[in-house]
Amino acid sequence: MQQLYPEPGPVDHDTLIDLYAPPPRPSLRVNFVASLDGAGTLGGKSAGLSGPEDKRVFGILRMRCDALVVGAGTVREEGYRAVRLDEPRRQWRLAHGLTEFPTLVIVSGRCDLDPAQPALADAPVRPVILTTAHAEPGALGDVADVIRAGDKRVDLIEAVRQLRERGLLQLLSEGGPTLFGSLTAAGLVDELCLTVSPLLAGPGAGRITAGPELPAPVDLTLRHALLADGQLLLRYNR
Ligand SMILES: NC(=O)c1ccc[n+]([C@@H]2O[C@H](COP(=O)([O-])OP(=O)(O)OC[C@H]3O[C@@H](n4cnc5c(N)ncnc54)[C@H](OP(=O)(O)O)[C@@H]3O)[C@@H](O)[C@H]2O)c1
Repeated sequence: MQQLYPEPGPVDHDTLIDLYAPPPRPSLRVNFVASLDGAGTLGGKSAGLSGPEDKRVFGILRMRCDALVVGAGTVREEGYRAVRLDEPRRQWRLAHGLTEFPTLVIVSGRCDLDPAQPALADAPVRPVILTTAHAEPGALGDVADVIRAGDKRVDLIEAVRQLRERGLLQLLSEGGPTLFGSLTAAGLVDELCLTVSPLLAGPGAGRITAGPELPAPVDLTLRHALLADGQLLLRYNR
């Protein structure tokens, strides 16, 4: 892996971990992979857009967060497994003052999620469901803590405030597009880690963001650009 910006040069694994240090204040970063022509999925999933180096960064981002926030659509489509990091990453977390595992947080208005699915039933730490005041989580409440915020949609500003009250300060969102659109609209996105994969997916797939239009675009600043196997790994923040 090579760094192209700001300083060109090779990047070893420890440097890569440092390059993805979260800011010292509580923050929310979002991680996505997209094709050159802007697709967020291939055949309905993100896996075909990824590659070994993107997966390495994906693993580092999970290693460095307190909670992993995902939309219910991604959990349903991608068949999320329990967030069980490997032994070296668990040890790294403990040595750096983090809990052994990040907490999985799922955003869902409808609570149409199977409580027996591995992401919930096999979770090493009790997950959190972020939902609305009137939602009926039913048996999800047996396998996860339920946080309510907002009436028709989840009020993400209030929900994030409640997560931080629980000590979940560094938040990583792995999407998907609807949640990213909602987080952007709520002004909660501090950072975007975006991998651009060197392929043309062609028409059909959606972008990495979805939902109502924003009143104005949000400017981000490039922190670094890395190159590996033809993929660009970009880190932008506000
Ligand atoms: N390229 C990538 O890196 C990447 C990353 C992640 C996902 N994806 C792809 O994205 C696709 C899924 O897209 P998606 O837009 O459906 O994913 P999503 O954002 O993960 O899920 C959308 C669902 O999340 C819940 N949600 C999000 N914001 C909410 C809010 N403010 N209030 C209430 N509920 C909210 C709703 O759940 P309920 O319906 O339960 O109410 C909504 O239907 C999959 O094909 C997946 O493979 C790609």
